Amino acid sequence: MSSISNDFTDYFGTWALIAGASEGLGEAFAREIAKKGINIILVARRKDLLEKLRSEISRDYQVETKAIQLDLASADMLDRIKAETENLEIGLVVYNAASSPIGLFFHFNLEQQFKVIDINVKGPMIFTHHFGKLMKNRGKGGIILLSSLAGLQGDPYHAHYSATRGYTMNLAEALWYELKKYGVHVMTCAAGATKTPNYVSSKPKRSGLINPRPMDPNKVAKGSLKSLRRNKPYHYPGFSNKFNAFILRHLLSRKAAIKFLGNIASKMYGEDKNHVNK
Ligand SMILES: NC(=O)c1ccc[n+]([C@@H]2O[C@H](COP(=O)([O-])OP(=O)(O)OC[C@H]3O[C@@H](n4cnc5c(N)ncnc54)[C@H](OP(=O)(O)O)[C@@H]3O)[C@@H](O)[C@H]2O)c1
Repeated sequence: MSSISNDFTDYFGTWALIAGASEGLGEAFAREIAKKGINIILVARRKDLLEKLRSEISRDYQVETKAIQLDLASADMLDRIKAETENLEIGLVVYNAASSPIGLFFHFNLEQQFKVIDINVKGPMIFTHHFGKLMKNRGKGGIILLSSLAGLQGDPYHAHYSATRGYTMNLAEALWYELKKYGVHVMTCAAGATKTPNYVSSKPKRSGLINPRPMDPNKVAKGSLKSLRRNKPYHYPGFSNKFNAFILRHLLSRKAAIKFLGNIASKMYGEDKNHVNK
């Protein structure tokens, strides 16, 4: 273990909660955090996957674990979370879950768009408000809100999703500043293509010049935790995402960046694509 791993519990306590943790990046965060000796609470909808992962983490890393089967879009979500965690001191929260419809904005009805707001906007806001306040009062803690390079500017064919990724990015960055004097680290992880079941199921096509090679979720999680420990406000995982973020933010005008991403997305997914993860 590195010296950073050893002092992780000093910064973030003994319990972590990962929202959207049954597979993909959420699973990777849960495993990487458990490796640091922190007890794990997994939240997601699919009970079988949650239970399997919960018992594997207990066995592999000898930490305490708890699984909460919950739809993060449900109206009583916060009441359930409060009831399930009231006796535990949660010092680290990763909000990973997202709904990411791909396709033209009008391919999706309002009900679908509201669900995206529930999972991608209301969820991280509620978790940050509830757990962030407790952390501030305790004088320590850490929060990671997952975002995306798509949140750096409008991302055609992911219009609503990219708007919500801008929300989590800005929320985390602003709270990084507000909460750092209270010992609470808040960070956004602006991921690029990552090999999660959700990404794979969207079946992206090769797009010519730009062919994002999806990153290993474990590397994304590991790098994010390192940056959180160093109290960075944002993390772009891996070299190619850092490079792409540099191009999007500093080399292209905002208008050129939007067109650039629109051209890539139309090649990767086709204009008529209409995909939404479960
Ligand atoms: N994968 C990429 O290429 C990529 C790129 C850029 C950014 N990101 C960001 O990384 C994060 C995760 O990526 P991903 O979309 O590929 O997903 P993922 O890591 O494969 O997993 C999504 C997780 O969220 C859970 N989840 C989804 N909706 C939920 C709900 N309503 N209630 C409770 N749990 C829910 C899923 O479990 P259940 O289905 O069991 O509920 C699953 O465990 C997102 O915030 C996304 O914006 C990903």
